[in-house]
Amino acid sequence: MAEVIDLGEYGDGFRRDPHPVYARLRARGPVHRVRLQPPDAHHETWLVVGHEEGRAALADPRLAKDGSRIGVTFLDEQLIGKYLLVADPPQHTRLRGLITRAFTMRRVEELRPRIQQITDELLDAMLPGGRADLVDSFAYPLPITVICELLGVPEMDRTAFREISTEAVAPTSEQSEYDAFVRLAEYLTELIEDKRCAGPSADLLSDLIRTTAEDGDRLSPQELRGMAFVLLIAGHETTVNLITNAVHALLTHPDQLAALRADMTLVDGAVEEALRYEGPVENATFRFAAEPLEIAGVPIAQGDAVMIGLTAADRDGARFPVPDRFDIRRDTRGHIAFGHGIHYCLGAPLARMEARTAIRSLLERAPRLALDGAPGDWLPGVLMRGVRSLPVRW
Ligand code: HEM
Repeated sequence: MAEVIDLGEYGDGFRRDPHPVYARLRARGPVHRVRLQPPDAHHETWLVVGHEEGRAALADPRLAKDGSRIGVTFLDEQLIGKYLLVADPPQHTRLRGLITRAFTMRRVEELRPRIQQITDELLDAMLPGGRADLVDSFAYPLPITVICELLGVPEMDRTAFREISTEAVAPTSEQSEYDAFVRLAEYLTELIEDKRCAGPSADLLSDLIRTTAEDGDRLSPQELRGMAFVLLIAGHETTVNLITNAVHALLTHPDQLAALRADMTLVDGAVEEALRYEGPVENATFRFAAEPLEIAGVPIAQGDAVMIGLTAADRDGARFPVPDRFDIRRDTRGHIAFGHGIHYCLGAPLARMEARTAIRSLLERAPRLALDGAPGDWLPGVLMRGVRSLPVRW
């Protein structure tokens, strides 16, 4: 029987900085049995912390996402409907094909000038103040505005939406997680109904309502809701944290900040290194052993939950030398911050475009940007890696 490591025993320190714990685990081996704290689902799970093993596990078809293969339906699927991250082939292949038809590279490229414009407007509003919470004033409004415009989501109460959405991905209790999913399901049902009634328009959600494959296949109403859910939530929660984590890392590594300021062409490297060093998705979404298997010689029983530690893998010294050093010039190729395999992040090009634009513009327009006190709490749960607030001045 494998030893069970209770991650809850590490207390708040583990949320603030889980990397030393992951380093100790990696030193002992690439796969461990861990216990999580409620409201995290699956109170016991396997955790893969090695890079090579994590990358292989992300692409392993024996690790299923569809709970029905092991006889369970999870809360998000019950309340929202089937979506990409809880589907396996052939269902996943079909859903991914339908979204890829509508969410093209051209569509992302067309957003470039608008992303710059939103960035400039947010900085125009923020900079005269002299100090601000970067999350509130910049890192959150940019991706939420972009994804809402892309999908064609009308003006909404963004403060209320932010609360529900963050509760869904980083819940503080089981009840609040449940409530968040119920409210999201209601909101998305109404949104799609309004879109149907409003008639044809050029946004992505309207396209998805119309999208039909060559064989006449299209998304069912539940699948449409699932798609809107994953795009709207995955499309901003993660990018908020990428912008915030990148700025945080730069402000706490003055030599790297100076190097970037001296040569802004390094911005792409800075964003990739932020993804590797403090990626917004700490662990990939749960997978399940559809059959008995071994990872790095460790036997995994059928039905067991498996969590792949993306930030743990991306600090594996066997893959990235001196992994705890934040170095914007390093070779970051092979990082798995956007996942790997068939579930590889659909929004990676958009997220990169937003983060590069945001960081370049922020540094250019705030030449004396600095931290203005301690960052807020780190998000709870094992999925997301980011702080609730980042006070800055300039
Ligand atoms: C920095 C920002 C982002 C990060 C770090 C990120 C990370 C990830 C990761 C790690 C996965 C795979 C999860 C797994 O295998 O369990 C994923 C999947 C996904 N992401 Fe992202 N994401 C980001 C931004 C976005 C954006 C902007 C969008 C949409 C516009 C998006 C849409 C999706 C979708 C739809 C999937 C599911 C793909 C599938 O199952 O086939 N993401 N993302």
